[in-house]
Amino acid sequence: LSVVAGVNNLPKFVLKTSTSSCEIYLHGAHVTSFKINSNENLFMSEKSAFQENKAIRGGIPLIWPQFGPGKIQTHGFARNLDWDVNKALVDEKAQSVQIEFFLKSSEATDKILGVSSEFIVFYRVTLHPDFLDLEYEVKNTSQQNTMEFQLAFHTYYSISDIKNVHVLGLKGREYIDKMKNMEKKKENRKEVTIDQEVDSVYLNVIPTQGGSSYQPLQLVDTQKKTSVTLTYDYQSIPDVVVWNPWIEKSKKMEDFGDEEYHKMICIEIGVINNPVKLSPNQTFQTKHSILPTNSSSSSL
Ligand code: BG6
Repeated sequence: LSVVAGVNNLPKFVLKTSTSSCEIYLHGAHVTSFKINSNENLFMSEKSAFQENKAIRGGIPLIWPQFGPGKIQTHGFARNLDWDVNKALVDEKAQSVQIEFFLKSSEATDKILGVSSEFIVFYRVTLHPDFLDLEYEVKNTSQQNTMEFQLAFHTYYSISDIKNVHVLGLKGREYIDKMKNMEKKKENRKEVTIDQEVDSVYLNVIPTQGGSSYQPLQLVDTQKKTSVTLTYDYQSIPDVVVWNPWIEKSKKMEDFGDEEYHKMICIEIGVINNPVKLSPNQTFQTKHSILPTNSSSSSL
Protein backbone atom coordinates (compact mmCIF):
# COMPACT_ATOMS: atom_id res chain seq x y z
CA LEU A 1 0.00 0.00 0.00
CA SER A 2 1.39 3.39 -0.90
CA VAL A 3 0.23 6.94 -1.38
CA VAL A 4 1.35 8.77 -4.49
CA ALA A 5 0.51 12.00 -6.31
CA GLY A 6 -2.29 11.41 -8.80
CA VAL A 7 -3.63 13.72 -11.50
CA ASN A 8 -3.37 17.40 -10.45
CA ASN A 9 -1.32 16.19 -7.48
CA LEU A 10 -4.40 14.80 -5.76
CA PRO A 11 -3.42 12.07 -3.29
CA LYS A 12 -4.02 8.57 -4.56
CA PHE A 13 -3.65 5.26 -2.70
CA VAL A 14 -2.29 2.24 -4.51
CA LEU A 15 -3.18 -1.21 -3.19
CA LYS A 16 -1.39 -4.30 -4.47
CA THR A 17 -1.52 -8.05 -4.02
CA SER A 18 0.52 -10.66 -5.89
CA THR A 19 -1.88 -10.58 -8.86
CA SER A 20 -4.09 -7.51 -8.50
CA SER A 21 -3.92 -3.76 -7.96
CA CYS A 22 -6.31 -0.95 -7.19
CA GLU A 23 -6.05 2.84 -7.11
CA ILE A 24 -8.24 5.09 -4.97
CA TYR A 25 -8.32 8.87 -4.76
CA LEU A 26 -9.02 10.57 -1.46
CA HIS A 27 -11.24 12.87 -3.51
CA GLY A 28 -14.60 11.08 -3.38
CA ALA A 29 -12.90 7.93 -1.97
CA HIS A 30 -13.00 7.17 -5.65
CA VAL A 31 -11.63 3.88 -7.05
CA THR A 32 -10.14 4.70 -10.45
CA SER A 33 -8.41 1.43 -11.31
CA PHE A 34 -8.89 -2.26 -10.51
CA LYS A 35 -6.59 -4.65 -12.35
CA ILE A 36 -6.11 -8.37 -12.21
CA ASN A 37 -3.04 -9.70 -13.99
CA SER A 38 -2.58 -6.22 -15.49
CA ASN A 39 -6.07 -6.30 -17.08
CA GLU A 40 -8.03 -3.14 -16.25
CA ASN A 41 -11.67 -3.74 -15.30
CA LEU A 42 -12.71 -0.11 -14.88
CA PHE A 43 -13.24 2.59 -17.48
CA MET A 44 -11.84 6.08 -16.88
CA SER A 45 -12.68 9.00 -19.13
CA GLU A 46 -9.73 10.79 -20.67
CA LYS A 47 -11.63 14.02 -20.10
CA SER A 48 -12.29 13.49 -16.41
CA ALA A 49 -11.86 16.53 -14.19
CA PHE A 50 -9.76 15.94 -11.11
CA GLN A 51 -10.70 18.98 -9.12
CA GLU A 52 -12.44 20.19 -6.01
CA ASN A 53 -16.23 19.89 -5.94
CA LYS A 54 -16.31 17.89 -9.19
CA ALA A 55 -16.76 14.18 -9.50
CA ILE A 56 -14.17 12.05 -11.25
CA ARG A 57 -15.65 10.59 -14.47
CA GLY A 58 -15.17 6.82 -14.53
CA GLY A 59 -14.07 4.21 -11.99
CA ILE A 60 -16.41 3.84 -9.02
CA PRO A 61 -18.10 7.10 -7.99
CA LEU A 62 -19.89 6.81 -4.65
CA ILE A 63 -23.43 8.11 -4.98
CA TRP A 64 -24.64 9.24 -1.56
CA PRO A 65 -26.90 10.47 0.07
CA GLN A 66 -29.04 11.19 -3.02
CA PHE A 67 -29.33 9.37 -6.34
CA GLY A 68 -29.95 11.56 -9.38
CA PRO A 69 -31.31 15.11 -9.20
CA GLY A 70 -33.25 16.27 -6.12
CA LYS A 71 -32.90 18.51 -3.09
CA ILE A 72 -29.12 18.66 -3.26
CA GLN A 73 -26.59 18.32 -6.09
CA THR A 74 -27.13 15.44 -8.54
CA HIS A 75 -25.97 12.12 -7.10
CA GLY A 76 -25.19 13.69 -3.71
CA PHE A 77 -21.94 15.02 -2.29
CA ALA A 78 -19.90 11.94 -1.34
CA ARG A 79 -18.21 11.83 -4.76
CA ASN A 80 -17.33 15.53 -4.66
CA LEU A 81 -15.70 15.79 -1.23
CA ASP A 82 -12.32 14.72 0.10
CA TRP A 83 -12.62 11.81 2.49
CA ASP A 84 -10.21 10.93 5.33
CA VAL A 85 -8.34 7.70 5.84
CA ASN A 86 -9.01 5.77 9.01
CA LYS A 87 -6.76 2.75 8.69
CA ALA A 88 -5.12 0.28 6.36
CA LEU A 89 -4.78 -3.44 6.93
CA VAL A 90 -2.84 -6.24 5.34
CA ASP A 91 -4.23 -9.75 5.82
CA GLU A 92 -1.38 -12.08 4.98
CA LYS A 93 -3.49 -15.23 5.23
CA ALA A 94 -6.18 -13.96 2.85
CA GLN A 95 -3.49 -12.17 0.80
CA SER A 96 -5.67 -9.08 0.82
CA VAL A 97 -5.12 -5.38 1.43
CA GLN A 98 -7.78 -3.10 2.88
CA ILE A 99 -8.12 0.61 3.28
CA GLU A 100 -10.88 2.35 5.22
CA PHE A 101 -12.05 5.88 4.46
CA PHE A 102 -14.50 7.97 6.43
CA LEU A 103 -16.63 11.03 5.90
CA LYS A 104 -18.16 12.88 8.83
CA SER A 105 -20.95 15.44 8.95
CA SER A 106 -19.48 18.92 9.06
CA GLU A 107 -20.29 22.54 8.42
CA ALA A 108 -19.70 21.83 4.74
CA THR A 109 -22.25 18.99 4.61
CA ASP A 110 -24.75 20.98 6.73
CA LYS A 111 -24.46 23.79 4.21
CA ILE A 112 -25.15 21.44 1.31
CA LEU A 113 -28.07 19.75 3.09
CA GLY A 114 -29.53 23.01 4.37
CA VAL A 115 -30.07 21.40 7.79
CA SER A 116 -27.75 20.25 10.50
CA SER A 117 -27.12 16.52 10.39
CA GLU A 118 -24.95 14.10 12.32
CA PHE A 119 -23.48 11.07 10.63
CA ILE A 120 -20.30 9.22 9.97
CA VAL A 121 -19.77 7.03 6.92
CA PHE A 122 -17.08 4.36 6.61
CA TYR A 123 -16.07 2.98 3.22
CA ARG A 124 -13.81 -0.06 3.15
CA VAL A 125 -12.16 -1.18 -0.07
CA THR A 126 -10.56 -4.62 0.13
CA LEU A 127 -8.41 -5.86 -2.70
CA HIS A 128 -8.10 -9.64 -2.98
CA PRO A 129 -5.91 -11.45 -5.50
CA ASP A 130 -8.92 -12.01 -7.77
CA PHE A 131 -11.76 -9.73 -6.67
CA LEU A 132 -12.66 -6.45 -5.00
CA ASP A 133 -14.90 -5.95 -1.97
CA LEU A 134 -16.62 -2.64 -1.28
CA GLU A 135 -18.24 -2.13 2.12
CA TYR A 136 -20.28 0.92 3.07
CA GLU A 137 -21.41 1.76 6.56
CA VAL A 138 -23.51 4.74 7.64
CA LYS A 139 -23.96 5.63 11.31
CA ASN A 140 -26.68 8.07 12.22
CA THR A 141 -24.96 9.72 15.18
CA SER A 142 -27.89 12.00 15.93
CA GLN A 143 -29.78 11.36 19.17
CA GLN A 144 -33.06 12.75 17.78
CA ASN A 145 -33.29 12.76 14.02
CA THR A 146 -33.96 10.00 11.53
CA MET A 147 -31.86 10.30 8.41
CA GLU A 148 -32.83 9.23 4.91
CA PHE A 149 -30.58 8.38 1.99
CA GLN A 150 -30.07 6.58 -1.29
CA LEU A 151 -26.77 4.95 -2.20
CA ALA A 152 -25.13 3.56 -5.34
CA PHE A 153 -21.77 2.23 -6.43
CA HIS A 154 -21.81 3.92 -9.85
CA THR A 155 -19.26 1.60 -11.48
CA TYR A 156 -17.97 2.26 -15.01
CA TYR A 157 -16.75 -1.02 -16.55
CA SER A 158 -14.15 -1.05 -19.29
CA ILE A 159 -15.34 -3.01 -22.35
CA SER A 160 -14.03 -3.82 -25.84
CA ASP A 161 -17.04 -2.10 -27.44
CA ILE A 162 -20.64 -1.60 -26.35
CA LYS A 163 -21.75 -3.76 -29.29
CA ASN A 164 -19.90 -6.76 -27.82
CA VAL A 165 -21.40 -6.78 -24.33
CA HIS A 166 -24.54 -7.99 -22.62
CA VAL A 167 -25.80 -8.09 -19.06
CA LEU A 168 -27.21 -11.31 -17.60
CA GLY A 169 -29.43 -11.65 -14.54
CA LEU A 170 -32.08 -9.02 -15.29
CA LYS A 171 -34.69 -11.14 -17.05
CA GLY A 172 -38.11 -10.98 -15.43
CA ARG A 173 -37.25 -7.85 -13.43
CA GLU A 174 -39.31 -4.71 -13.26
CA TYR A 175 -37.48 -1.54 -14.18
CA ILE A 176 -38.02 2.18 -14.40
CA ASP A 177 -37.15 3.45 -17.86
CA LYS A 178 -35.71 6.92 -17.26
CA MET A 179 -35.52 7.43 -21.03
CA LYS A 180 -39.29 6.95 -21.31
CA ASN A 181 -40.77 9.26 -18.66
CA MET A 182 -40.02 6.88 -15.80
CA GLU A 183 -42.34 4.26 -17.31
CA LYS A 184 -42.36 0.98 -15.38
CA LYS A 185 -41.57 -2.02 -17.60
CA LYS A 186 -40.67 -5.66 -17.35
CA GLU A 187 -37.37 -6.95 -18.73
CA ASN A 188 -37.97 -9.85 -21.11
CA ARG A 189 -34.43 -10.33 -22.37
CA LYS A 190 -32.05 -12.88 -20.97
CA GLU A 191 -29.16 -10.95 -22.50
CA VAL A 192 -29.59 -7.20 -22.10
CA THR A 193 -27.73 -5.44 -24.92
CA ILE A 194 -27.37 -1.71 -25.63
CA ASP A 195 -27.80 0.01 -29.00
CA GLN A 196 -29.13 3.40 -27.91
CA GLU A 197 -29.08 5.67 -24.85
CA VAL A 198 -30.09 3.53 -21.89
CA ASP A 199 -30.89 4.67 -18.37
CA SER A 200 -32.81 1.95 -16.51
CA VAL A 201 -33.30 1.34 -12.80
CA TYR A 202 -34.04 -2.34 -12.20
CA LEU A 203 -35.90 -2.92 -8.96
CA ASN A 204 -35.26 -5.54 -6.33
CA VAL A 205 -32.78 -7.65 -8.24
CA ILE A 206 -32.77 -10.42 -5.66
CA PRO A 207 -31.60 -13.78 -7.02
CA THR A 208 -33.83 -16.00 -4.91
CA GLN A 209 -36.89 -13.77 -5.03
CA GLY A 210 -40.19 -15.66 -5.19
CA GLY A 211 -38.54 -19.01 -4.55
CA SER A 212 -37.20 -19.32 -8.09
CA SER A 213 -33.50 -19.01 -8.68
CA TYR A 214 -32.22 -16.33 -10.99
CA GLN A 215 -29.03 -16.04 -12.96
CA PRO A 216 -26.55 -13.91 -11.00
CA LEU A 217 -25.84 -10.45 -12.30
CA GLN A 218 -23.04 -10.63 -14.83
CA LEU A 219 -21.46 -8.44 -17.49
CA VAL A 220 -20.21 -10.45 -20.47
CA ASP A 221 -17.81 -9.16 -23.12
CA THR A 222 -17.92 -11.62 -26.01
CA GLN A 223 -14.90 -10.14 -27.78
CA LYS A 224 -12.57 -10.00 -24.78
CA LYS A 225 -14.04 -13.34 -23.71
CA THR A 226 -14.33 -12.08 -20.15
CA SER A 227 -17.12 -11.63 -17.69
CA VAL A 228 -17.57 -9.81 -14.41
CA THR A 229 -19.90 -11.17 -11.76
CA LEU A 230 -21.47 -8.64 -9.42
CA THR A 231 -22.58 -9.79 -6.01
CA TYR A 232 -24.16 -7.60 -3.37
CA ASP A 233 -26.12 -7.68 -0.16
CA TYR A 234 -29.59 -8.05 -1.69
CA GLN A 235 -31.44 -6.99 1.44
CA SER A 236 -29.79 -3.59 1.70
CA ILE A 237 -28.87 -2.66 -1.91
CA PRO A 238 -31.36 -4.41 -4.21
CA ASP A 239 -31.53 -1.99 -7.16
CA VAL A 240 -29.40 -2.10 -10.31
CA VAL A 241 -28.94 0.75 -12.78
CA VAL A 242 -27.77 0.13 -16.34
CA TRP A 243 -26.55 3.28 -18.04
CA ASN A 244 -24.86 4.23 -21.30
CA PRO A 245 -25.09 7.84 -22.56
CA TRP A 246 -24.80 6.91 -26.27
CA ILE A 247 -24.14 9.57 -28.95
CA GLU A 248 -26.03 12.79 -28.13
CA LYS A 249 -25.64 12.71 -24.35
CA SER A 250 -21.91 11.98 -24.68
CA LYS A 251 -21.53 15.15 -26.72
CA LYS A 252 -23.28 17.17 -24.03
CA MET A 253 -21.08 15.92 -21.19
CA GLU A 254 -18.03 18.15 -20.97
CA ASP A 255 -15.96 15.67 -18.96
CA PHE A 256 -16.63 12.74 -21.29
CA GLY A 257 -15.27 12.10 -24.81
CA ASP A 258 -17.71 12.00 -27.73
CA GLU A 259 -16.71 8.44 -28.64
CA GLU A 260 -16.11 7.08 -25.16
CA TYR A 261 -19.60 5.58 -24.87
CA HIS A 262 -18.28 2.68 -26.97
CA LYS A 263 -15.81 1.77 -24.27
CA MET A 264 -17.93 1.78 -21.10
CA ILE A 265 -21.08 0.55 -19.46
CA CYS A 266 -22.25 1.54 -15.99
CA ILE A 267 -23.82 -1.14 -13.86
CA GLU A 268 -24.67 0.50 -10.57
CA ILE A 269 -25.69 -1.41 -7.48
CA GLY A 270 -27.59 0.52 -4.85
CA VAL A 271 -30.66 1.39 -2.86
CA ILE A 272 -32.59 3.85 -4.97
CA ASN A 273 -36.29 3.13 -5.11
CA ASN A 274 -36.96 2.91 -1.38
CA PRO A 275 -34.50 5.22 0.40
CA VAL A 276 -33.04 3.97 3.66
CA LYS A 277 -34.53 5.51 6.79
CA LEU A 278 -32.04 5.33 9.60
CA SER A 279 -33.25 5.99 13.14
CA PRO A 280 -31.10 7.88 15.66
CA ASN A 281 -28.04 5.86 16.71
CA GLN A 282 -28.67 3.20 14.06
CA THR A 283 -26.13 1.83 11.59
CA PHE A 284 -26.63 0.75 7.98
CA GLN A 285 -24.12 -1.70 6.52
CA THR A 286 -23.77 -3.14 3.07
CA LYS A 287 -21.34 -4.90 0.77
CA HIS A 288 -20.79 -5.23 -2.96
CA SER A 289 -18.15 -7.41 -4.66
CA ILE A 290 -16.76 -7.30 -8.18
CA LEU A 291 -15.42 -10.61 -9.45
CA PRO A 292 -13.85 -10.63 -12.91
CA THR A 293 -13.63 -14.04 -14.53
CA ASN A 294 -11.44 -15.02 -17.39
CA SER A 295 -13.18 -16.95 -20.17
CA SER A 296 -10.76 -19.84 -19.72
CA SER A 297 -12.24 -20.52 -16.31
CA SER A 298 -15.89 -19.79 -17.10
CA SER A 299 -18.46 -21.24 -19.45
CA LEU A 300 -18.78 -18.38 -21.92
C1 BG6 B 1 -26.75 7.47 -13.89
C2 BG6 B 1 -28.10 8.10 -14.02
O1 BG6 B 1 -26.69 6.80 -12.68
O2 BG6 B 1 -25.75 8.48 -13.88
C3 BG6 B 1 -28.14 8.96 -15.28
O3 BG6 B 1 -29.10 7.09 -14.05
C4 BG6 B 1 -27.02 9.97 -15.26
O4 BG6 B 1 -29.41 9.59 -15.37
C5 BG6 B 1 -25.70 9.26 -15.05
O5 BG6 B 1 -27.00 10.68 -16.49
C6 BG6 B 1 -24.49 10.19 -14.97
O6 BG6 B 1 -24.67 11.17 -14.02
P1 BG6 B 1 -23.58 12.25 -13.74
O7 BG6 B 1 -24.13 13.18 -12.71
O8 BG6 B 1 -22.35 11.53 -13.27
O9 BG6 B 1 -23.31 12.95 -15.07
